[in-house]
Amino acid sequence: MAHLTISLMFLLISIFCISGTVVVESSKPSYPRRQSRAAAAYIQASCNKTSYPALCMEYLSMYANSSTIPSPLQMSQVALSFSIDRAQSTRSYISKELRATKGKERENLEFCLDRLSVCVDSDLSDSIREVHVLVSPRTPSDDVRSHISNVQTWVSAAMDDVTDCTESGSPGEKPIKLKGTIMVKLLNVEESICIVLDLFDQYAERYYKS
Ligand SMILES: *[C@@H]1O[C@H](CO)[C@@H](O)[C@H](O)[C@H]1NC(C)=O
Ligand SMILES: *[C@@H]1O[C@H](CO)[C@@H](O)[C@H](O)[C@H]1NC(C)=O
Repeated sequence: MAHLTISLMFLLISIFCISGTVVVESSKPSYPRRQSRAAAAYIQASCNKTSYPALCMEYLSMYANSSTIPSPLQMSQVALSFSIDRAQSTRSYISKELRATKGKERENLEFCLDRLSVCVDSDLSDSIREVHVLVSPRTPSDDVRSHISNVQTWVSAAMDDVTDCTESGSPGEKPIKLKGTIMVKLLNVEESICIVLDLFDQYAERYYKS
């Protein structure tokens, strides 16, 4: 029953993570106070289009009183740094738990740890590097599309790493059992990656329309 609930949650995540995005043009009022209000409204509108608006707003709260309106790319970059932090701290938590764990449960945790390492050290790190290139004003326009596609590929791969761990490997196999706390942490990692995907899609969509 617990597994059924969890599988349903993941199904919902997979569905909600694919969000339709609409481009919102930001206005640039001349007064700082008005501008910070415009920034807040713009962030709110962008976060509203993600699967987890409240968490997204938390990540982007640094811009709430700012006089600069962040670009969708900057917002994705911030969300990405939160994602990697969450994934990293979940990895540390699991490796601590591993010491006191035996048997089949230990195997499950080792498998998860392995997936999380790929997530942190390869997929999310590669995504951060690619977003960094895109943020650089010197990115040649010919290359932008391939960098966009790399980020989308790697962030999606990062999501798969985590779902591999929570839903478990090959079809037909029983889902692996994980302690509640670990499952919650992994779900949090998924939520944060989902926000990155949603914000980055807003950037990509805007780029292709311009
Ligand atoms: C965002 O969503 C909230 C809650 O649904 C709504 O009250 C608010 O007006 C929305 N804001 C923007 C800027 O879309
Ligand atoms: C923004 O400013 C308001 C009012 O000055 C303050 O209450 C709020 O905590 C500030 N938010 C952030 C994220 O700094």
